[in-house]
Amino acid sequence: MRTRVATLGGSLLRPEVEDRHEWLIGLCKAVNDVTSSGYKLALVIGGGAPAREGIGLARSIINTNTEALDRIGIAATRLNATIVAEALIETGNDVCPLIPTNIQDAVEYSENHDVVVMGGTEPGHTTDTVAIQLAKELGAECCIIATNVGHVYSSDPRTNEDAKKFETMTHEELSEIVGPAEHQNAGRSGVIDPIGASIAKEALLNLAVLDGRDIERLRAALNGESFEGTNVEG
Ligand code: UTP
Repeated sequence: MRTRVATLGGSLLRPEVEDRHEWLIGLCKAVNDVTSSGYKLALVIGGGAPAREGIGLARSIINTNTEALDRIGIAATRLNATIVAEALIETGNDVCPLIPTNIQDAVEYSENHDVVVMGGTEPGHTTDTVAIQLAKELGAECCIIATNVGHVYSSDPRTNEDAKKFETMTHEELSEIVGPAEHQNAGRSGVIDPIGASIAKEALLNLAVLDGRDIERLRAALNGESFEGTNVEG
């Protein structure tokens, strides 16, 4: 059975707004829909507000130890993964009750369950990279990056009104936008983690970048249907 792999940015699950309840209910329905179509799912959940809050609190004491700050971020991603896993179990999905802490365990658990949910693995990257590594390991057709922007842009559209929106782009074009494969400061990232982008480029793994706040777009991408967003391929 084919597995679809997606990373859901923590800002989708843990924004500081009220409609996150609706979003989570929609996610549970979408997952049910996709597994009923015969796909397995591996979902990697980002840290969002708790990661930023926790890293921000600790930064006054731990300001140069990036690994320590990363570990706080990882704890937040696992908290969020637990919320998603428990919500999916409660709504009748066959979800692994354990949150894997590394790629090998995630691959193993996905053999026995329709859905595996996890957060981060180790310091030095973000959950985008975890999902891309997992998609590569599972031989998935692509890795879905559900974030809070609609597309990949040539530069930040909030600060540059001439930013170009990509419907499709190559890995080469993406790597020019995200920059070298280096870990940025804990708790901060651009549209895609450059480390993950470079792994995808080397593995020739397609990426699907979309606005995950729109559950229908996310459901369509998970189900292998066309979706509004950016396809990174070739
Ligand atoms: P996220 O994956 O949420 O990072 O992990 P992000 O992309 O910066 O945040 P959003 O999704 O846009 O809100 C949160 C933080 O946890 C650490 C990193 O410090 C990251 O910034 N982390 C996460 C790791 O060190 N390793 C991991 O495998 C995952």
